[in-house]
Amino acid sequence: MRVMMNLQELKHTAQRLMANDKGLLAMDESLGTCNKRFKALGIPETEEYRRQYRELIVTTPHLEESISGAILFEETLYQKTETGTPFLEILDHKGIITGIKVDQGAVALPGFPAEQVTEGLDGMQNRLATYYKLGLRFAKFRAVINIGRDTPTNTAIRINAVTLARYAALCQEAGIVPVVEPEVLMDGDHTLHQCAEVTRTVLKEVFNELYEQRVQLEGMILKPNMVLPGLSCQDQSHIEDIAAETISCFLQVVPAAVAGIAFLSGGQSATLASARLNMMHQKFGTVIPWPLTFSFSRAIQQPALEKWSGKAENVAAAQQMLAHRAACNSAARRAEYSPSMETNKREP
Ligand code: G3H
Repeated sequence: MRVMMNLQELKHTAQRLMANDKGLLAMDESLGTCNKRFKALGIPETEEYRRQYRELIVTTPHLEESISGAILFEETLYQKTETGTPFLEILDHKGIITGIKVDQGAVALPGFPAEQVTEGLDGMQNRLATYYKLGLRFAKFRAVINIGRDTPTNTAIRINAVTLARYAALCQEAGIVPVVEPEVLMDGDHTLHQCAEVTRTVLKEVFNELYEQRVQLEGMILKPNMVLPGLSCQDQSHIEDIAAETISCFLQVVPAAVAGIAFLSGGQSATLASARLNMMHQKFGTVIPWPLTFSFSRAIQQPALEKWSGKAENVAAAQQMLAHRAACNSAARRAEYSPSMETNKREP
């Protein structure tokens, strides 16, 4: 009985996250990643500057028109605006569902050079109960898969799949929708075809494990990479081929029962990520069985972060850029994104 009630709640949350052509905003960069991005722009790597930046994001006007859920990092969960309003309250007033990154990063897998496994399962049950009480309703856990000469190995794929499924089962038990993120990295010179092969193999293993561990697919969201050639591959592939390979791969291995698919951006430029999502909807919108959206960090935030650069006088302009990127991706969900949107931006 408890399981069934839980499933209704999980389905409801997942459907709200996928509704109205909106998507997720990943603003859950760990301290290390956030500081690295700040350093590159000369922004002081302090808690106060991270707070100011996250305040800029959560107070962005019109954000809720394109964003259904925001993934936070633990530090951000308890932060407040300059005037003392908790970020969680601001998001709640905007109708944006709050989620959290619950993994604790990828570490080297002993005996398997260049491969990693993600940590964070220990103590997760208690942390999830606390997050639920705070009003959080979804969570994210990321595993990374590296394409190289001898990688990925079956062992690394299997260990990561088992870990992701264990996390997903713990989330569902706590009433929290798991966003399951197996990311095949873009680094390397692999081809589009190789990425498709690896992504398919990884997703097959992940769904096998999700079944084994009795995760309810209607109450989870998949956060995968798009199928893309490696960043240093000579042939960067036409956008139509990328859309076709990505959708064909998912149709083969992602069950229709999954509540939704929300892509990570993985280092693509902001405009390419929008254009590729748009092409998938333009070409395959009528055949895909799942809602297909975005859960971008860099492809939504990077232009705004560069604009802000830690300066108070740039906040309004940076917020405008953030809302614009979110709107471009929401338009892509309707197959209505076009490069002309990049030149005709709404005034703040
Ligand atoms: O885990 C990764 C983030 O949630 C997505 O980041 O869009 O910059 O790849 P990204």
